[in-house]
Amino acid sequence: MNSENKNSFYLTTPIYYVNDKPHIGHSYTTLLADVLARYHRLMGTPTFFLTGTDEHGQKVQKAADQNKISPKEHCDRTVVRFKELWKKLEITDDYFIRTTDESHKAVVREILDSLHKKNLIYKAEYKGCYCVTCERFFTEKDLKEGRLCPECGRTVEDIVESNYFFRMSQYQEWLVKYIEDNPGFIQPDFRRNETLGFLRKPLEDLCVSRPKKRMSWGIELPFDSDYVCYVWFDALINYITGIGYGTDPAKFAKWWPANYHLIGKDILTTHTVYWPTMLKALELPMPKTIFAHGWWLIGTDKMSKSLGNVVNPLDMAEKYGVDALRFFLMSEMSLGQDASFSEEIFVTRFNSNLANDLGNLLSRVMKMIIKNADGKIPSPGKDTGEETELRKNVFSSVNSMRDSIVNMKLDRGIEAVMGSVRAVNKYFEKSAPWKLASENNADRLATVLYTGAESLRIISGLLFPVMPGKMCELRRSLGLPKGLCGNPDMQGLEKWGLLGPGSEVVDIGPLFQRIDLSEKTKQQPAEKVKVPEVKPVPAEGLVAIDEFFKTKLRTAKVLSAEKVEGADKLLKLQIDVGGETRQIVAGIAQFYKPEEIIGKNIVVVSNLKPAKIRGIESNGMLLAAKDGKTLKIITVDGDIPTGSSVG
Ligand code: ME8
Ligand code: MG
Repeated sequence: MNSENKNSFYLTTPIYYVNDKPHIGHSYTTLLADVLARYHRLMGTPTFFLTGTDEHGQKVQKAADQNKISPKEHCDRTVVRFKELWKKLEITDDYFIRTTDESHKAVVREILDSLHKKNLIYKAEYKGCYCVTCERFFTEKDLKEGRLCPECGRTVEDIVESNYFFRMSQYQEWLVKYIEDNPGFIQPDFRRNETLGFLRKPLEDLCVSRPKKRMSWGIELPFDSDYVCYVWFDALINYITGIGYGTDPAKFAKWWPANYHLIGKDILTTHTVYWPTMLKALELPMPKTIFAHGWWLIGTDKMSKSLGNVVNPLDMAEKYGVDALRFFLMSEMSLGQDASFSEEIFVTRFNSNLANDLGNLLSRVMKMIIKNADGKIPSPGKDTGEETELRKNVFSSVNSMRDSIVNMKLDRGIEAVMGSVRAVNKYFEKSAPWKLASENNADRLATVLYTGAESLRIISGLLFPVMPGKMCELRRSLGLPKGLCGNPDMQGLEKWGLLGPGSEVVDIGPLFQRIDLSEKTKQQPAEKVKVPEVKPVPAEGLVAIDEFFKTKLRTAKVLSAEKVEGADKLLKLQIDVGGETRQIVAGIAQFYKPEEIIGKNIVVVSNLKPAKIRGIESNGMLLAAKDGKTLKIITVDGDIPTGSSVG
């Protein structure tokens, strides 16, 4: 199968445990997939987007027992939460798979059977430490002192049980080589290193069965009716049954291999170790990229049901609108990094990007056209340098957006488009169409209004996949024919001049109403401080400004951090400086744990000569404040692209 030249795009989300109520975290992955799918459709690529639910296993069985209904009935009741939420969030999945679908189950059984026949699945005795309460096995090294369960603290039992195993270990060498030879396979890069780190230990065979006497809610093994299939083995297969593997060969050939399996970083090992070895055993090509994004955090904790700190996406959508929620989630998280969720950050971004920048621009353009051009798109006169500049800016965000989709830097693409929105606002201020109107400079006025409206047509097309509802409204207000409002295409976004002069604009009122932060979240007014008297600085040790600027300071984002073996003061960091990844070694290990610094936006000296510290190359130095026993890293106050100059 030649996958490289295939003009198709297949992407998946994890299939979520049907038992949990979907929260912002689940919504994020599905929304990201939706936005990517919509962009690829906009670019004209045939696209298939799969999502669904993971319905077998312990937790479902337990919940069903508690409710005194069958597990399947329990799933049927709870799956609705996901389906309804996705509808509400305007998710355009092409198929929603449930692992209890008969067609999925039948193919999983065929797969198990064929692997068993090939002796890739075998029966053996399994010895382990089992916690009866948690119904889970643990290895000796997982246990807490006194052979206690690491989860609930109760004493575990030694259990010997027969089970079926998949010969995963035999693929270890192949997998390491495959990952090393295909740098795009696991993304971002630091996740690839994590998997390679995991693969440094010997890989064991994978237990793929559960005896029914312990857990019966699963797919029965075709060759032994005393067992059901391990839930992950069944779940991962959804990525191929969802596009017709084993039932519709033509459909499967059309879409496989997947372009992206989008996942959260919590399920990296199952996707980058179990799944590739399963595919290898099935003699199927590997997916092109497994992309693990970071977590939505509340404060410093992962948002998760077990921590009880989840935010309900429906509440947010109800309060602020579906499009605002989509926009926030897509622009606030740098793909791969963790991000914090708070209503205050949400409202701040909403007000500045959507109400002030974009909403304001539309209402200015509309008001001027209604008042001064009879409510019709005017016919533009001759361009000046101002128009040429602005056009360049708008087209450069078309390119940025396309690149950001291909390189999975969605937040940067959105930022580029917002940059263009601000540029059009500036252009409007500078050209002052209200003045042109009062001076009766009709020709110039028409050009400025046309340029504003035409920029908005392109901008709304670029933001359409992120905010389909609002951008459709915006496009309708520009007088675009109905069919074009909800269906922009890339070709149309690469051309200037498609808005037809004479078409009537529609006043739709404010696109985004500014939100007032509640009293609670409102910033307290800063206390009045006495300004200290300015004292003259002694001339000794002063440097001239040009001398200072020889040191190039730039912002950077910490992508990963690890301890340096044998050096308790050092951390080795990978940092992103404006798209370039660099390694630096910093003497901060006594003050920061690696996980505390990952994701921080720091300031580095970027033109320092490379140095070797304990044999490790360091290309730069980070800035930190020191005071005797404390050290605090200098970070950037707010959003600015990495690599921005500091000074
Ligand atoms: O793991 N931040 O399902 P699951 C960002 N059924 N994303 C989050 C998140 C957070 N705080 N919390 C959850 C399973 N997610 C298995 C998957 S696939 C063959 C089987 C998202 O319901 C993220 O995508 O626990 C994460 O990987 C997924 O939900 C886990 O969902
Ligand atoms: Mg989970």
